[in-house]
Amino acid sequence: MSATAATLSHVYPLGSRVNEHGRLEIGGCDAVELVREFGSPAYLVAEDDLRARARTFADAVGARHADYDVLFASKAFPCTAVYRLLAEEGLACDVASGGELFLALRGGFDPARIYFHGNAKSAAELRDALAAGVGHIVIDSLDELELLERIAASEGGRRQEVLIRVTPGVAGDTHHAISTGQTDSKFGFSPPDARAAIERLAGAEHLDLVGLHFHIGSQLLELEPFRAAVRTIASLGDFPVYNVGGGLGVAYTASIQPPAVLDYVDAIVSTVHEELGADKRLLLEPGRALVANSAVTLYTVQTVKRNVSTWVAVDGGMSDNLRPMLYGSRYEAVVADRAIADANVRCHLAGKHCESGDVIVRDVWLADPAPGDVIATPVTGAYGYSLANNYNGVPRPPVIFCRSGDARVVVRRESYEDLAARDVG
Ligand SMILES: Cc1ncc(COP(=O)(O)O)c(C=O)c1O
Repeated sequence: MSATAATLSHVYPLGSRVNEHGRLEIGGCDAVELVREFGSPAYLVAEDDLRARARTFADAVGARHADYDVLFASKAFPCTAVYRLLAEEGLACDVASGGELFLALRGGFDPARIYFHGNAKSAAELRDALAAGVGHIVIDSLDELELLERIAASEGGRRQEVLIRVTPGVAGDTHHAISTGQTDSKFGFSPPDARAAIERLAGAEHLDLVGLHFHIGSQLLELEPFRAAVRTIASLGDFPVYNVGGGLGVAYTASIQPPAVLDYVDAIVSTVHEELGADKRLLLEPGRALVANSAVTLYTVQTVKRNVSTWVAVDGGMSDNLRPMLYGSRYEAVVADRAIADANVRCHLAGKHCESGDVIVRDVWLADPAPGDVIATPVTGAYGYSLANNYNGVPRPPVIFCRSGDARVVVRRESYEDLAARDVG
């Protein structure tokens, strides 16, 4: 069970290693030193890893299809520095709220390459999207279609390109909370309703229907559901643009072997070519597969309690990583101070919050965990920062970019004053 330099599992960011002191190193930075300098908990992002994943995606699609764009599904890690880095890497961006739109613009994305999603967009959000000049607004319902048409008419009559989100009736094998493509989803139009919306848009004065979108779910480890979804939307007509969403799963633990990005892109592109043709504009929206494995969370052990089980309690938990509690997600963990040592104690890695369910990893093996040790949990780059909260008045962690041994804080730790910053009385 021990993690050694030779066996540090493939879930860690590229370039991670156990250094000559036997400690975990991320982006050339010693994890234990980082906690001494910046405190814990902390999200560490290996900058080179993130850049490499962005390039892998763009190169994979670019080698197989002429007219394409890769969109960062920014709900996975909506942090200005991450937007900025992925904009620098030439990606486009998808947003699912006015707040994400604000951050994407702040991060430097060209508005024309920002694509706006959401199943309950408000009038204010739609106005903001039009004013910003986003590329597509992805229409999710008839109510939204009518609202957007009225707003576009009242805002000077500029024509806005739109896509229709189709719920193809395809359910991948994933947690029900992140499955979205099944029949009777809260998202999008069923195929018959999509046909009606397509007809309705044929006569729209201010909206240009340029294509279709689907996103069938997240953390999908099989490729057939993506192919099935493409086949379903192919029956809805011929459009210049197809956005096939995100959803590719990642390895949270060493035993998970997700499809390689190249195989995923192959499956999508070959099915698009067979069903829709090679001349379409193809948009892909990876979130998790871009950012999850690029980050690691560091905690400090506060107590070790020997009960029926051994409980190792750290200084974070469900306020910085809600996924184990929401979806039963499984993580690895290692004592960063002794990353090479034998992981000889079976325990539960518990958070500091006032709920029994606040357990980050159950039944994990750690090397002689003791108060003061630094614990690392890898694969926290997706939906960790974005789902973070202040339960129990716990300030949210900083985000630290690590590269070639240099660490720079891109989001500072929240302070107690921040917790009261919105109070007006
Ligand atoms: C419309 C849309 N596109 C893309 C994504 C990204 O999914 P993932 O992070 O699984 O790649 C999501 C996630 O919820 C989504 O709702």
